[in-house]
Amino acid sequence: MVTLLNTVEDAAARAICSAHNDRPDELLEILHEVQAGTGYLSDEALRTIAFALNITRADIHGVVSFYHDYKRSPPARQTIKICRAEACQAVGANDLIAQAQKIFGVPLNAGGADIALEAAYCLGNCALGPAVMIDEQLYGRVSMKGLQKLSMKHFEGSKAKAVQTKELTSKESKS
Ligand code: FES
Repeated sequence: MVTLLNTVEDAAARAICSAHNDRPDELLEILHEVQAGTGYLSDEALRTIAFALNITRADIHGVVSFYHDYKRSPPARQTIKICRAEACQAVGANDLIAQAQKIFGVPLNAGGADIALEAAYCLGNCALGPAVMIDEQLYGRVSMKGLQKLSMKHFEGSKAKAVQTKELTSKESKS
């Protein structure tokens, strides 16, 4: 039996494990459901799951780190996914990613409190690359200028708006 060293239990994670009869072979589903509720997998949640399923935390960490869809920190206020699969790479996705990192000031796949940039591997919009997803909304043939405009639409009042406004204003004043 695994010892629960820290007694702080995640009640939601406990309920989800119970709904799965604490079955270790349902670990992936349990992790997905816990993450769907909170947006990420906290230390408390992982500890609770390990205890309930009677598996080691090392086992869970191995699974969580293998699948990059599992998040270990709270989600950013807004997430921009840019496809870097083959078809989108062929039409400039890597350039778009490089520019987006500079403009938004966040590295790729690093999380962030306000904005997170994530690489995606096919968003199902291959004929219209580079493809971008913001707040689960899909866009195609996105240029950097287009991405800034889309971000302004999605990120009212955020750091992104301030950055984009500055960028667009400086570009407009040059033209
Ligand atoms: S390759 Fe980018 S959407 Fe499919």
